[in-house]
Amino acid sequence: MSEPSDTDAVISVEDLAKTYRTPFRRRRVEALRGVTFQVRRGETFGFLGPNGAGKTTTIRVLMGLIGATAGTARILGQPVPSRAARQRLGFLPEQPYFYDYLTVPELLDLAGRLFGLPAAERRKRADALIEKVGLARARTQPLKKFSKGMLQRAGLAQALINDPDLVVFDEPMSGLDPIGRKEVRDLIHELRDAGKTVFFSSHILSDVESVSDRVAIVMRGKIEAVGSPRELAGRTLLGVDVTLRIADPRGAAAEEIAARGDRVRRGDQELSFTLAADADVDEVLAFARERGAKVVAVSPRHDTLEDLFMSRALASDGGRAAGAEVQDGGHLR
Ligand SMILES: Nc1ncnc2c1ncn2[C@@H]1O[C@H](COP(=O)(O)OP(=O)(O)O)[C@@H](O)[C@H]1O
Ligand SMILES: [Mg+2]
Repeated sequence: MSEPSDTDAVISVEDLAKTYRTPFRRRRVEALRGVTFQVRRGETFGFLGPNGAGKTTTIRVLMGLIGATAGTARILGQPVPSRAARQRLGFLPEQPYFYDYLTVPELLDLAGRLFGLPAAERRKRADALIEKVGLARARTQPLKKFSKGMLQRAGLAQALINDPDLVVFDEPMSGLDPIGRKEVRDLIHELRDAGKTVFFSSHILSDVESVSDRVAIVMRGKIEAVGSPRELAGRTLLGVDVTLRIADPRGAAAEEIAARGDRVRRGDQELSFTLAADADVDEVLAFARERGAKVVAVSPRHDTLEDLFMSRALASDGGRAAGAEVQDGGHLR
């Protein structure tokens, strides 16, 4: 019954809108303004956007925790909220709250009970997960003694207790140091290798870029771009970097050559500059050779995902701005 394009979609969101109403000043916050994307089976999908872009709101709709104002959301083939989908889903909320007198084994046992797992299976999975997230030495400590990073690990373990087909992590790297972030990226890789679909959000580009098959960039409640990191970056040729060897990089000949490009750098018998994307590279290299230079390297300079992220962030009003705030009546504030 599902549309052919949807058969492999584990998450499918179409034209999702969410307007929060705050009691004071009768203000509305348009957190989502028509969000559409699909996550395919088995892929790792990074949901990237600055604070306030609408990531958590999208995830809370997908998890059935809040209703959307408009649009549709389906998860594991079911419209949300779905009990059947919940069984096959693992979820790490942005700010997980746990009963803090529990230990990790107790937390995982409780989580396993909610999924109806038998006791022996619960213990087996809990032991393996505690090992996997590196909390073995903290087994007997109550969660209230845990650091933010340890709580995050406990949350990740908790999200995996039902061996889910789909995991949804809201800012799984937040509160972690660089080593912790790397460990979460490794965990995501492992989950992907085990055939899981991973959907996770982050406001930090480098956390998303290296681990995601595809990325959606969300800004101010709208999707700005979707694609693989390679597709999203490298779409635009920004220029061509040229490096030459030349006897006197500050001499008259070097001056003449350097004038053909910009971003000029001079080293020991070395001259580098960047040509415009539409420059006649062959002609410039011939010009340089005629003046005694030897070509050392020529390489295209492409957009990076960071360029794209930053340019979109700037275009959408500094990017850090909250979702569009409007008064009833619809005028931007
Ligand atoms: N419960 C709420 N009531 C009112 N506004 C909210 C609520 N939750 C989030 N918002 C607003 O919605 C926008 C999107 O927030 P959120 O989805 O948390 O973004 P992100 O997770 O990308 O940081 C922000 O402007 C935020 O202030
Ligand atoms: Mg958030």
